[in-house]
Amino acid sequence: MKGVVLAGGTGSRLFPLTKITNKHLLPIYDRPMIYFPIQTLVDAGIRDILIVTGGRNSGDFLRLLANGKQFGLNHINYTYQEGEGGIADALGLAEHFADGHKICVVLGDNIIEGSIAAAAARFREQSLGAHLLLKEVPDAERFGVAEVSDGAIVGIEEKPSEPKSNYAVTGIYMYDATVFDKIKTLVPSHRGELEITDVNNAYLREGSMTFSFLEGWWTDAGTFDSLLRATNLVAQSTHRKPAPGNGTEGATAEGAGGI
Ligand code: G1P
Repeated sequence: MKGVVLAGGTGSRLFPLTKITNKHLLPIYDRPMIYFPIQTLVDAGIRDILIVTGGRNSGDFLRLLANGKQFGLNHINYTYQEGEGGIADALGLAEHFADGHKICVVLGDNIIEGSIAAAAARFREQSLGAHLLLKEVPDAERFGVAEVSDGAIVGIEEKPSEPKSNYAVTGIYMYDATVFDKIKTLVPSHRGELEITDVNNAYLREGSMTFSFLEGWWTDAGTFDSLLRATNLVAQSTHRKPAPGNGTEGATAEGAGGI
């Protein structure tokens, strides 16, 4: 399975922090935000990774990450999203990279405490379809929300004003290669974007969607409040290792695994 980190967008909810840089380059405690989704993929045994970025600061990703040596990688792939087409539009740019393989997609502002290794291992065995990771949250109206009945997802709504459950669809998605055909059938939502929730509902209609619950804390970091929350969670994490590439690799960490 290959990995895709989506790190485009204008980050308009974080203006003026994002006026002169990309959201995913902003600091979360001791490292740039994009380090987290990359580490999530690497910890799940995924080493072939594409970064989809865009905007005026795309060159900074190359300067920061280079070939991914700080993550133990030999190479990182990059592609550029022109304009503001939304998450599913950005993912569509990964078709050439995926080249028929399954992909694990992580939104560049999604930060987790634990690991998705077990879910990734299960999805490698799943012959087709998609796998979502859900997390129970107190503020489901901020996210894609899954309605679960009799142990199955029966519908997903994007930022519903009256959520049918407390189960947020996290920004970690595992897809088979049909995802790109599904993206081509999408029409822009009311906010003018191709929505990842529409991709997920296409898999749901097909009956090929599985899901599991994410262990440990999860947060996005795309608003002032969630950026602060992410920083505090990372700072307080007992699993935190030194930031890769900070010159202290090999130094004693407080724990093993996780971030
Ligand atoms: C996006 C997705 C949403 C998902 C969330 C996870 O929302 O559209 O379905 O729950 O990421 O972080 P956005 O961050 O673009 O508002």
